[in-house]
Amino acid sequence: MIIKAFLFDLDGVLTDTSELHFLAWKRLAEEEGILFTREDNEALRGVSRRESLNLLLKGRQVSEEQAREMMERKNSYYVELVRQMTPANLLPGALEMIEEIRRLGLKQAIVSSSKNAWLVLERLQIGEFFDAVIDGNSSARSKPYPDLFLLAAQAVGVNPGNCLVVEDAQAGVEAAHAAGMKALGLGPRERVGAAELVFPSLESHSANEVITFFEGL
Ligand code: BG6
Ligand code: MG
Repeated sequence: MIIKAFLFDLDGVLTDTSELHFLAWKRLAEEEGILFTREDNEALRGVSRRESLNLLLKGRQVSEEQAREMMERKNSYYVELVRQMTPANLLPGALEMIEEIRRLGLKQAIVSSSKNAWLVLERLQIGEFFDAVIDGNSSARSKPYPDLFLLAAQAVGVNPGNCLVVEDAQAGVEAAHAAGMKALGLGPRERVGAAELVFPSLESHSANEVITFFEGL
């Protein structure tokens, strides 16, 4: 397989916002008298805001209006935390990799389920590296559906079969495969083991190494 474009998930791949999502959901849960642990938070990785709320509510019934208000409240707590981010919040190896991809002249895009992707990119000061940013506002169907990845392939003008997805969530790897793309998974195998290649993180890995590995597939 020839890689012509890298499609990067954002949260958990280039920066670790999962702690900020956790703090914001936990604040909401406490206000609502719901127990929400760090372990519970793991199931929310890569999952949309709406689906995250459903998981947090653990079967508790709320009206549509209440659900919307809770999502807005959580988001305001989250945005408050994101505003304090700086380029120091880039994960090790992330900047090196996107710089290398640009030097190689390949396309690269952000494909995130988050509606806050642009804000996070601004805080990290890396928006200029990407040929397209597809986020939670781009499609009604989020990961594990393939829609966001297919939109990204179209936006950068590369066939899905030549796109390599970089993901830290199971739902993201599933979405990549559903889009006819191969994936580099970051994190434990229990989570991203379905990806064709798995690294603990981007640290100490180069884009060239990834390109060479996938040429053999
Ligand atoms: C994903 C995160 O990128 O975006 C999830 O991994 C998050 O944890 C989802 O719930 C939606 O994000 P937001 O910012 O639109 O609430
Ligand atoms: Mg992620």
